[in-house]
Parts: sequence; structure tokens; C-alpha cells
Amino acid sequence: MTFAGKTLLITGASTGIGKAIAQKLLKQNCNLVLIARRVELISEYINQSQNIGSQSLVIKCDVSKKEEVAAAYELIKQKFGGVDIAILNSGIGRNVTVKTYNSKDAEDTFGANVFGIIYWVEKLLPDFLKKKSGVIAATSSLADNRGFSGSGFYCASKAAATIYLEGLRVELKPHNIKVITIRPGFVRTPMTDQNNFKMPLLMEPEKAAEIIISGIEKEKRVIQFPWQIYLATRIIGALPGRVYEWLAGKAKI
Ligand SMILES: NC(=O)c1ccc[n+]([C@@H]2O[C@H](COP(=O)([O-])OP(=O)(O)OC[C@H]3O[C@@H](n4cnc5c(N)ncnc54)[C@H](OP(=O)(O)O)[C@@H]3O)[C@@H](O)[C@H]2O)c1
Repeated sequence: MTFAGKTLLITGASTGIGKAIAQKLLKQNCNLVLIARRVELISEYINQSQNIGSQSLVIKCDVSKKEEVAAAYELIKQKFGGVDIAILNSGIGRNVTVKTYNSKDAEDTFGANVFGIIYWVEKLLPDFLKKKSGVIAATSSLADNRGFSGSGFYCASKAAATIYLEGLRVELKPHNIKVITIRPGFVRTPMTDQNNFKMPLLMEPEKAAEIIISGIEKEKRVIQFPWQIYLATRIIGALPGRVYEWLAGKAKI
């Protein structure tokens, strides 16, 4: 698949992985819709970018609010007629331990990480089904297969996203609509800058963006990286619950 001439939507484009993807795609020849709440950050890097080949539309939208997603989709349809490839990348990853336990963190996390995908799919689906094409690439995480202490809301939201996307992939295949699950390991972004634990094989966002763009071009079902962390999470995922909980308690993860 090539991106030239296509309309791509990227949510969570203000910082981190979404920003790095957007900066690379700005140099191509496509229509880019860039979404976040802090749109001033997006305008800032567009203004600083050189060799821009793509047209862009920046929309302020909280993806956890259904009515804001609906309004943003109307603007996209007015400007570009619709979307070909949606990269649903917005996400929140807060460290919440039992000491700081607060259900508001769960609402925000599930709002962005799960409903931020579901609301966009709700708007995109009718048009994708009508034209019998489209790509939904959404960001989950390699942290989707176990509950890590201090990250319970995050892991649960990513597990929900991964399982939801898997079902959607099966259902949409006969309609020629591709669903791609993106599962990164640790990437250096404002989200991980707040972590005070060791993050093995921490990757730069530009490298992660390259892997994600190339994975979408190759129409992979699942884009997961780096392979070492993927392998480790497969092994951790296969451990019996009792063994995992004992090890996690010892390692304080
Ligand atoms: N970094 C990692 O190690 C890692 C690993 C696995 C998965 N991921 C996933 O990768 C994605 C990108 O994260 P990142 O690491 O690049 O973190 P980041 O730099 O904090 O970026 C998160 C992006 O999501 C946007 N966002 C958050 N809540 C939103 C909301 N309610 N509505 C609209 N946009 C919202 C933020 O924009 P505004 O605040 O401006 O709205 C920002 O652009 C997330 O889904 C994350 O879970 C990251």
C-alpha cells in the first residue's frame, strides 16, 4: 500500500509517537488530518517543518468525547471527503498505585485508550463499508497481556483494545477493510519520561514511527516491536498466574 494521494488521520499527533509519524508523513504527498487536544503543539512543528509535500488539517478533539469525534469527522469530510487510513494512536499511560488510587484515572485512561478507538471506528465504518476499503491501525501495547502493578488501568485498557481490534479484524476482512494492531515496547516519549523504572530497549520515537509506517505499508495484521520485548512478553504471558505473581512481587514490577 502506498500513502500517496490518500487521506490519513492520526490521533494523538501532538507529542511522542503520533508526532513522529506525522512529521514523517508531512514530507510525503498525502492529505494529513492531525488530531489532539493541544493543537498548538501540532501547529508549532508544522510551521517548523521543511519539504512539506502533504496538505494538513489540524483539529482539536478530545477522542474520549463522542460528540467531539463526530464533529471532527464532519470537518474531515468537508475538507477531504473522508479518510483512507486511520492511525488511532491517542493514549494515556499514568502510573496509578493503590496509594494514589482514583477512578478518574481509569475513566481518562479507558476514555482515550479504548473509547478513543471505538468512537472513531463508529464514524469511519459506514463510509469504509460503503467503499469496501479502508485501514484502521490502532495503538495498543506489548503491556496488553498481563497486569503490571502500578499500571493496572493502563494494562487493562490495552488488553481491551487488543481484543476489540482482533474481533474487528476478523469481522471486517471480508469487507476488504484492514485492521492493524500496533503493539510497541518502550518508546521515549512524554508518556515514558514520567517512568522511574528501568525501561529495557527504550526506542526513539522516530524509529518507532518508521516501524509503524512500514508495517502499515506492508499491511501487517499486527505491528509489534522490538522483537526481544515481544518475545519476553510472550514468555511472561505464558506463565501460570501463581508463578507470574510471585516473580512480579519479587521484581517489584
Ligand atoms: N511510549 C511507549 O513506550 C508506548 C508503549 C506502548 C504503547 N504506547 C502507546 O502509544 C500511543 C502514543 O503514546 P506516546 O508514548 O507517544 O505518548 P505521548 O507522547 O504522551 O502521546 C499521547 C498522545 O495522545 C494524545 N491524547 C491523550 N489523551 C487524549 C484525548 N483524550 N484526546 C485526544 N488526544 C489525546 C496526546 O495529545 P493531547 O494531550 O495534546 O490531547 C498525545 O498526542 C499511546 O496509545 C500509548 O499508550 C506507548
